[in-house]
Amino acid sequence: MSTPRKQVILGAYLGGVNHHTAWWHPEAGSQIDFATFEHTARTAERGKFDFFFLAEGLILRERGGKIFDQDIIGRPDTFTVLAALAAVTEHLGLAGTINATFNEPYELARRFASLDHLSDGRAAWNVVTSFDAFTGQNFRRGGFLDPADRYVRAEETLNAVRALWDSWDASDLVADKSTGRFLARPDAGAFAFHGNQFDISGRFTVPRSPQGRPVIIQAGVSPQGRDFAAANADAIFSPYGKLPEASEFYADVKARALATGRSPDDIKILPMASFVLGDSEAEAIEKFHAIRDEQITGQTALVLLEQIWNRDLSDYDPEGPLPAIDPDPTAPQFIQGRALINQDRLGTVERLRQVAENKKLSLREVVIDQFEWRGPLVGTPAQVAEQIDSFVQNNGSDGFILGSHLVPTGLDEFVDRVVPLLQDRGVLRTDYTGSTLRDNLGLRNLYSEKGVPAEA
Ligand SMILES: Cc1cc2nc3c(=O)[nH]c(=O)nc-3n(C[C@H](O)[C@H](O)[C@H](O)COP(=O)(O)O)c2cc1C
Repeated sequence: MSTPRKQVILGAYLGGVNHHTAWWHPEAGSQIDFATFEHTARTAERGKFDFFFLAEGLILRERGGKIFDQDIIGRPDTFTVLAALAAVTEHLGLAGTINATFNEPYELARRFASLDHLSDGRAAWNVVTSFDAFTGQNFRRGGFLDPADRYVRAEETLNAVRALWDSWDASDLVADKSTGRFLARPDAGAFAFHGNQFDISGRFTVPRSPQGRPVIIQAGVSPQGRDFAAANADAIFSPYGKLPEASEFYADVKARALATGRSPDDIKILPMASFVLGDSEAEAIEKFHAIRDEQITGQTALVLLEQIWNRDLSDYDPEGPLPAIDPDPTAPQFIQGRALINQDRLGTVERLRQVAENKKLSLREVVIDQFEWRGPLVGTPAQVAEQIDSFVQNNGSDGFILGSHLVPTGLDEFVDRVVPLLQDRGVLRTDYTGSTLRDNLGLRNLYSEKGVPAEA
């Protein structure tokens, strides 16, 4: 008997303004108007995507005291946007990126449970720990946690949030119409959580939501991040959209999940990807190069390299060679609001110099060549459908979180031209079958009929 083909999971990404978004394009919409979010979400639902996904930045990036041009457009609050989207969509999951370092479990549990109620079981939390040290300046807690402590806090935050979600049973709230009273278990909503980060007890205000526990996504690739995800997450938002890193990451995380006693199927790996379509392969490649050339202006190239060099490079000519000077790993972080995932500055510079020499590239061309982190899907609609399907069937991932360079109308082309081909291949639903996001993702329901956590 042949193994059934894996279904492709699809998320639609809206990340706010950054150098991937062609905000100068004549068709580009506002990054903050509700119309932008609504259009993207409705399009994703038309394409039977699993969920809409909002990234989050709690600080504007700045350099030498000046915020980046691309950041001044702002980032609205995640919960407000997702709650509004719940009203204009019916089946689409609503995933919000929310920081575990700066938020209290009670607030987090309450907001996600409320979103789960409002959306009839479509809420998901992408648990992040934040990229950089400067976000903390905006919060009472201030400062930042040592990288090693971030996941300790994230794990405890999530455990506390779960204790709150689990404090109500499905049968807790029963309206007795004859007396006009609600009947509840005496300890409905009662919780107590004692840990090193939080010591809280009381009553939780939100009765059990349709999913009980909204879907947990994680983004972060360090060994601690992988372990945290393997033990706790239903999905990972991964930066690895290309082979072989993608399949190595996939195998590694699934093995870690197995080691914690979970099934590898309990955790879905979803890389971020962008797409460029053309009527012919040559046209798609040409479009891709034109978009890259526009995305990476001279100023953007310098700013991206400043993250690695940790120095002011504004006097360098983007069309000239890479700076001959070495990076400064000991100086305070030059770019605020975005830190390197890979901290090996010297090694990275060495590699970039090698590429520049071998391919005879200018500073800006090196950035165009080397800074593609959204594994691009480029080709005719048929080629892109094939790339997605074979990537998933060969365990590069379980699906993709797709973002277009053109916000908000870029996704339409994918839904009109690629989605029908994935459906023809039998790897994408033609209609929603589950009643919650958890169902649609093919995840186990964590609750028994009575509403008690299945593992309890
Ligand atoms: C693909 C990807 C997307 C991320 N998106 C966000 C985000 O939207 N907001 C945020 O604050 N952090 C985001 N992060 C940062 C992570 O939460 C984490 O703080 C960072 O990757 C450092 O953790 P690590 O050392 O485990 O990778 C993202 C990370 C990855 C890999």
